Amino acid sequence: MAIALQVAGLRKSYADMPVLGPIDVGLAAGSISVVIGRSGCGKTTLLRCLGGLETPDAGSVTAGGAALRRESVGYVFQEPRLMPWLSVARNVGFGLAAWDPERRDRAVAAALDRIGLPDAGQALPKQLSGGMAQRVALARGLAPEPDLLLLDEPFSALDPFTRAQMQEHLLHLHRAYGTTIVLITHDMDEALVLADRILVMRGGHGVPGHIAADLAPALARPRRPADPLLSNWRASLAGLLSES
Ligand SMILES: Nc1ncnc2c1ncn2[C@@H]1O[C@H](COP(=O)(O)OP(=O)(O)O)[C@@H](O)[C@H]1O
Ligand SMILES: [Mg+2]
Repeated sequence: MAIALQVAGLRKSYADMPVLGPIDVGLAAGSISVVIGRSGCGKTTLLRCLGGLETPDAGSVTAGGAALRRESVGYVFQEPRLMPWLSVARNVGFGLAAWDPERRDRAVAAALDRIGLPDAGQALPKQLSGGMAQRVALARGLAPEPDLLLLDEPFSALDPFTRAQMQEHLLHLHRAYGTTIVLITHDMDEALVLADRILVMRGGHGVPGHIAADLAPALARPRRPADPLLSNWRASLAGLLSES
């Protein structure tokens, strides 16, 4: 079930240096929000606070008025972070140890099916290309059917062609699972192709990370970077990013 997320007064410091906040934002259930901004502006810190991997100094992250449960959050990182000694299926099912085995097997098979690797379950991670490994990481993030999926620059290590394919996979998965998604990128085209909402962050060099602009590119999907309709949005975004 997708959830709406409310973030209120969120702040975080490291060693007394404020790096984030205050962040106040509401994210609609089932929406794809893309956070974009320069390196060091606090994107990862925000995502970790959203998912409960980091305890904020102040503020709250709630879903429908209640605290967000850790088990309802899925993560995908920049690198696949697969366990090399486990099969693809065991990696995908890793977070499902508490599930009844039949239900777990079904969820793993469905996730592998949806990323287009239905026969890869018995393979070992070393047999996968970089793009395939990252698809498996996506499947692992989605197998528990999380209410919220957080992705931290998940495709930035991939070549442009594989990256475009991964973006399609993500949209396909989003249609299938309807999960609320927050994705970090520093790539404008990735933001424009994927986002219902683009949050431009600024910060760093002593300025705590904050949301400097909030755009909602109401464009039909599928979107192609070459689509002329995207160029006005790209120009706005480029302007906002160059000011940061
Ligand atoms: N664990 C940490 N300890 C100390 N400083 C950190 C830690 N994580 C991040 N920072 C600092 O917080 C700021 C924001 O970092 P981060 O959220 O990783 O930014 P981004 O993901 O936008 O590149 C940076 O100045 C970074 O050096
Ligand atoms: Mg980061």
